Amino acid sequence: MIKQKSIDSVMAAVRIEEVVGDFVSLRKQGQDFVGICPFHDDKNPSMHVSPRLGIYKCFVCDAAGNPVKFLMEHEKMSYPEAIEYLAKKYGIPLEYERSESDEERQQRTLRESLLFVNEFAQKYFVDQLRNSEEGKLMGMAYLKERGFMDATIDKFGLGYCPDGWDNFTKAALEKGYKEEYLIELGLTGKSQSGKLYDIYRGRVIFPIHNDAGKVIGFGGRILKKDGKDPRKYVNSRENTIYHKSDTLYGIFFAKNAIHKQQNVYLVEGYTDVISMHESGVENVVASSGTSLTQGQIRMITKRTQNITVLYDGDMAGIKASMRGIDMLLEQGLKIRVCLLPDGEDPDSFAKKHRDSELQDYLAAESKDFLLFKADILSKEAGNDPIKRASMVNEILKSISCVKDNIERAFYVKECAKLFDLSENDLNMNLRRFVWEKTKEQSRIAQQQQLQQGGTTPEQATTEQPVTPDLIETKKHPDASQQTDLLYEAEKDLLLLMLNYGNLVIYEVDSNGENKEGLRIDQYVCNEMEKENIRFHYALLEKIFDKYVDWASYIGNQDQIIRNFTLSDDPQISEFVIRNIPVEEPRFSDRWKEKYDIHTHTTRNNLRILQNQVQNILLTLKLRILENDATIIQKILENKELTEEDMSLALQQLNSINQLKRDISKRLNRVVSR
Ligand code: UTP
Ligand code: MN
Repeated sequence: MIKQKSIDSVMAAVRIEEVVGDFVSLRKQGQDFVGICPFHDDKNPSMHVSPRLGIYKCFVCDAAGNPVKFLMEHEKMSYPEAIEYLAKKYGIPLEYERSESDEERQQRTLRESLLFVNEFAQKYFVDQLRNSEEGKLMGMAYLKERGFMDATIDKFGLGYCPDGWDNFTKAALEKGYKEEYLIELGLTGKSQSGKLYDIYRGRVIFPIHNDAGKVIGFGGRILKKDGKDPRKYVNSRENTIYHKSDTLYGIFFAKNAIHKQQNVYLVEGYTDVISMHESGVENVVASSGTSLTQGQIRMITKRTQNITVLYDGDMAGIKASMRGIDMLLEQGLKIRVCLLPDGEDPDSFAKKHRDSELQDYLAAESKDFLLFKADILSKEAGNDPIKRASMVNEILKSISCVKDNIERAFYVKECAKLFDLSENDLNMNLRRFVWEKTKEQSRIAQQQQLQQGGTTPEQATTEQPVTPDLIETKKHPDASQQTDLLYEAEKDLLLLMLNYGNLVIYEVDSNGENKEGLRIDQYVCNEMEKENIRFHYALLEKIFDKYVDWASYIGNQDQIIRNFTLSDDPQISEFVIRNIPVEEPRFSDRWKEKYDIHTHTTRNNLRILQNQVQNILLTLKLRILENDATIIQKILENKELTEEDMSLALQQLNSINQLKRDISKRLNRVVSR
């Protein structure tokens, strides 16, 4: 866990416009910045970024948040990942809680050490490739022969491991890297007789980066065709830092392009990725010859929903890989396939054609996966009725993986045409598959529930009661419910404090003279104290308490607001970000309607603000009384009430109603009730 102190220093340094600006191009507009919102499809700059409040807010799709939320939503980082990212960006060292268990700490330092060893190894291999005679003669010559450009070799960090027995291992040990780490990483092997040797000897090295750009493993391609080692590639084996199932070769070099193009090409091998980069297609990753795992899919879906699988012309390979694709459909991915001409893989195709030809080919030949599959199966089944029946079921099974109803209907229509069957018949069978799938899913869900037992975390974190007796604690009103007037009144008061708390108003005494000026927040606190007003909503109360605390020593109102928008309590930051107007403080539109106020900036118009303060306080009092009245009425409905309690309750109700009338009069408007 990162220490709170460190999180605070990060938050103090971070600038929202610099964080968002790394991903969205921003234009200055007044005090703020605007840009095209990356969270919905748009051509207009609907997203506002406010340095004053430390937040972004889209006026079309409702996306809003602080820098951390932006990274979590846009880059799909976890909270600690976002903090670590920002710490790095602003050069702030992070401290971690000691509460990390010994084992965790060991794991972390082990991870760090292993990454460190890999970094050394990678540099060593590059140095060998570029500076040793053998490296130049064997490794570099091979890469050049394959047509790789120097810049590409450099970018992907390709290297060479000399063909001796233990050149690399010796160099690493000399530098003080531990034998056990070299073995754990699969860089070094140990023979029966205890001799250490280089696993990658005589191979060209392809470092494998994680999506943060750290080298987590290596692929090594053999050069000698006469060698005794039959393996074309040696790859890192599973270890503390390398998990094959969570790795996509090329992801680090592809991630920006994937985001920009909103599509990713999936190929098989190292050289496919590299060659496509050379042809100007950078949104490409390799699964290293197997079908995608859940972890790999997640790496893709956090960046785009669109994937195009590149196939070489080999039919057996295509059919084998199709099975894995249903899983992608289930994740809601939109899948296209692109079939390369017979005998070509992306690498060879890219090498034989000009850049534009590859790009044109990809654009022209990419087809919807399900239609592609239907087409292939249909051709294969020919006129054989039994084969055709099983083919139809095969396709329907895939269609049942598609989550979206409308999309499913589209596929049914297309397949009906293709197979010359009625949509009705297809739909009937499709329902069966969908039904079986839902049954299976609910079975899995039930099992998980049983395993977890108890309540969900959401259920556990509802708001706490603030006060006993008449005040009953309320939850945040549900959007679907009728708007809660009491909630609105409390919210108005809180927003008044947040927006204008530091402004000074002048109370008028009984002689009509201005008394000494008082800050609005102080005035409100005094009033609440005097009248014993308390918040009914726990979240609002929490924010109010924090406000009072901060206002006592932070002079700058904007700084107070930023403290809220950057709060690591998501409920608090969310509430403030949602409700604070992005523009300079002024009456919100709702207030405009409600109180018929047309000024632009309230800061210029203290007199109106002064009335506003009265208005809000009085309205809140009224709402509280109404709330109390409702509770007493409920009590009165109780048939078992004693005579005495009954009259007491009625008395209370009477005085409440009297107070309500007084306040209504002061508010100068009739309250319907
Ligand atoms: P390929 O045999 O197509 O290799 O295997 P390639 O990358 O195109 O290499 P070249 O063009 O022959 O030099 C595709 C991928 O499958 C994995 C590697 O990730 C490779 O890039 N593979 C293949 C292995 O891991 N081991 C092997 O022995 C072969
Ligand atoms: Mn190849």
